[in-house]
Amino acid sequence: MNRIRNFCIIAHIDHGKSTLADRFLVKTGTLDERDMVRGQMLDTMELEQERGITIKLQPVRMNWKGTQLNLIDTPGHVDFSYEVSRSLAACEGAILVVDAAQGVEAQTLANVFLALEQGLTIIPVLNKIDLPAAEPERRAQEVENLLGFPAEEILKISAKTGDGIETLLDAIIEKIPSPDKNSVFENAEIFVDGETRALIFDSSFDTYRGVVSSIRVFSGELKAGEKVRLLRVGRDLQPTEVGFLKPGYEPCETLKAGEVGYIVTGLKNVIDARVGDTLWKGKSENPLSLPGYAEPTPFVFAGIYPISGDDFSLLRKAIEKLTLNDASLVFTPEVSSSLGNGFRVGFLGLLHLDIVRERLEREFDLDLLITAPSVAYEIVKPNGDTHSISNPSELPDPSIYKELKEPWAKITIFCPSDQVGSVMNLCTDRRGIHKNLQYPDPERVELTFEIPLASIVTDFYDDLKSISSGYASMSYEPIEMRVGNLSRMDVLVADDRVDALSQIVFRPNAAKIGGRWCEKLKEIIPKALFAIKIQAAIGGKIVARETISAMRKDVTAKLYGGDVTRKNKLLKKQVKGKKRLKQFGKVTIPQDAFFAMMKK
Ligand code: GTP
Repeated sequence: MNRIRNFCIIAHIDHGKSTLADRFLVKTGTLDERDMVRGQMLDTMELEQERGITIKLQPVRMNWKGTQLNLIDTPGHVDFSYEVSRSLAACEGAILVVDAAQGVEAQTLANVFLALEQGLTIIPVLNKIDLPAAEPERRAQEVENLLGFPAEEILKISAKTGDGIETLLDAIIEKIPSPDKNSVFENAEIFVDGETRALIFDSSFDTYRGVVSSIRVFSGELKAGEKVRLLRVGRDLQPTEVGFLKPGYEPCETLKAGEVGYIVTGLKNVIDARVGDTLWKGKSENPLSLPGYAEPTPFVFAGIYPISGDDFSLLRKAIEKLTLNDASLVFTPEVSSSLGNGFRVGFLGLLHLDIVRERLEREFDLDLLITAPSVAYEIVKPNGDTHSISNPSELPDPSIYKELKEPWAKITIFCPSDQVGSVMNLCTDRRGIHKNLQYPDPERVELTFEIPLASIVTDFYDDLKSISSGYASMSYEPIEMRVGNLSRMDVLVADDRVDALSQIVFRPNAAKIGGRWCEKLKEIIPKALFAIKIQAAIGGKIVARETISAMRKDVTAKLYGGDVTRKNKLLKKQVKGKKRLKQFGKVTIPQDAFFAMMKK
């Protein structure tokens, strides 16, 4: 075991994680430079390559100076923090990559703290030292101020030119403990001599192989054909193949304690091979699982509807297919009087929602309508029972419940010092409560707020980026449910409630939000022959209103001169006709209008 090192790379988007991983592969002779034709071998999903973000890298095995190096990925985005924590649990060390021109970003810091909590050894490096804008000395000082690593010990590399990479590979062997030194082995309660325990830190669905799980063996060994049990799910499986990635599949005889690799599970659905579950083989009566397992919890919910009602069953099939590969996606059918049949889907965050939407549209060729994202609220009934509400239009009458609670989050923002004021305003405008402010560098500020999750799952990130010209970064973690002064605001068009537009709002902001929605709807809904009333209401109380004036058909156009009474008669007839229309005419909101409403 002492010739094994398991590590991951923690980096902010674009700081060079994939480039560094590729450079490792070439330097260690695992891959030929020629094989890097596509560039960034390790970013596999098409979507990831296009957006230039890494959602997941495959774990890959390399060899450096007689030591087996297993590079495990940690997704860089805040939506996937549970998966990050499981990936970290599979490692003994992490390389912290900081762009020498940009400095530390909020999400990186959050992941470094997570790694430190789990006892990982961190090797900080400054990347992109070849760039003219690089300021390695200054950034090293920043890393020291924020995290306490001595500035002079921070390695300076260029993943692009290969500068400093060999020194870094040597440092991995020297500084990161081998798996047998991992403190988890001292946890005697869990480990029983002669028993196998392995952690699943990733599962994906492969069309040819079924569910393939990435695993880290902690004790014992795994072989193809030997039965193992999934302790959390409580079912047995018989791997048809075990091996490691190089980065292609390399089957092998056994995966031993300390090693990282994959197993072909023979399962058809990733929900059965959940991230965080323990694979176990042994004789214990009540075998204990490896620590840290959690069910994925969706934080953001939205309704997904097909634009064409005929596509409903296709949409169902498509979502089902996505869940084969994404155990965190939860969905239930729902019916909206304005949008028809669709699904309420739970996501880990906004990026997750975006990825799912794009995959549905791209891979299944579906035209979709997505309702405004919402968080999950909780009502507390007079008898103390609680009930979760993820679709605002389902919030019952206030007389049914005693309290309405909403999720709060802790948010950390990094921004240039001269933008503190506007970032503060943005947070307080969204009901944030200021908690902390510090300067890791004279020109950069770290701000901490507590803020309702609902305030940041809409357009917060876009606003933050625009007020900071793209320089601010943020990370958040949900903290608790808090009682809020909240109400359901409905939108009425021609006195009809449009259920898809209902939302739960902070009561004092209702008039403002309602006003915005009404104004926007006024722009979008086409005129009719009669005036259309648009209102935002809380219970029976109208908090905002707009009117779309009637289209005025020039009924007198045909008249050339002549008697004025004839003209008046025609106009009178028109008014009468409009009255009738108003009574019986139904306003149908065109799909485009919904589209435009949901976009923002
Ligand atoms: P995600 O996939 O979003 O996590 O980004 P990443 O951290 O993997 O960054 P990636 O490797 O895609 O690099 C981002 C950009 O920086 C690319 O255009 C790289 O070519 C460039 N880059 C990476 N390392 C270096 C470096 O050492 N020097 C220079 N000049 N550019 C680099």
